[in-house]
Amino acid sequence: MAALSPDGILLTGRVAVVTGGARGLGRAIAAAFAAFGAEVAVCDRVTPPAGDLAMTLDVRDPVSVEVFAGAVRERWGRVDVLVNNAGGTFHAPFLGTSERGERTLVEENFTQVTGMIRKFLPMMGEGASIINVTSSEAHQAAPGFAIYAAMKAAVESLTRSLALELAPRGVRVNAIAPDALPTEGELAMRETVRAADAGRGAADPGGEETPPYEPVRLPPLGRLGEPSDAAAAAVFLAGDLARFVTGTTLHVDGGIHAAGGWRRV
Ligand SMILES: NC(=O)c1ccc[n+]([C@@H]2O[C@H](COP(=O)([O-])OP(=O)(O)OC[C@H]3O[C@@H](n4cnc5c(N)ncnc54)[C@H](O)[C@@H]3O)[C@@H](O)[C@H]2O)c1
Repeated sequence: MAALSPDGILLTGRVAVVTGGARGLGRAIAAAFAAFGAEVAVCDRVTPPAGDLAMTLDVRDPVSVEVFAGAVRERWGRVDVLVNNAGGTFHAPFLGTSERGERTLVEENFTQVTGMIRKFLPMMGEGASIINVTSSEAHQAAPGFAIYAAMKAAVESLTRSLALELAPRGVRVNAIAPDALPTEGELAMRETVRAADAGRGAADPGGEETPPYEPVRLPPLGRLGEPSDAAAAAVFLAGDLARFVTGTTLHVDGGIHAAGGWRRV
């Protein structure tokens, strides 16, 4: 077994794929991977993100994902790190969530993850790593976010099962469960909560009025985090320092999970 060295944190020459890399956690993760020496392929459905290879696409669309995978295959022929980061939600109670809204949440937070893994796994071999970005909501009751939380919990379950299925081929699978890391998406989501508080109706256009929502407080560490905190966890999980880490979740949330969630903090 090789001795530990500071070089273990480096990702020199590794090929990393990051979804939702145009902003927020995805952009921070892609930038950190590049800073630690990786070649980075990024996709997003908005503004073309920066990377060695960048494509504008919706990860819910299998045809677009196939094209993206083809471009990565043509350029590098392999993938060492896959980060399933794209995702998002809005605040609406279960009965206020339309069927269309529910389908969107399921596709945006779960089926696109299996779709990405299906297309990219054939390019991943010994030493490769999959990192799924979930949420602290996957681990607690999340009124107003029931479908989103259930889909993130599904991704956590998928993470553990695939970790065992893929262990024989030396592919590690882990999750990062973030919270309290302000990003455009996080702020927009909190705005839907504030809108609900102010009685301005449900965020899901197909839904009913949203009842008041308990405002959040600071995490136990006494401050909010930042996207680079999630990026630091991703760099660790992607590299050799995490060579014996699979099927687990790193909570990057200032202690919210340990406290049993926002509402009990
Ligand atoms: N920021 C937090 O504190 C926090 C908390 C819990 C969970 N998360 C999770 O972290 C991930 C990143 O969130 P963020 O805060 O950076 O949000 P964000 O909205 O700022 O960034 C998400 C990016 O993903 C892209 N994206 C979303 N759906 C996509 C799709 N179908 N196809 C292609 N691109 C898509 C968006 O365009 C956006 O650029 C998400 O999965 C989110 O659920 C973040």
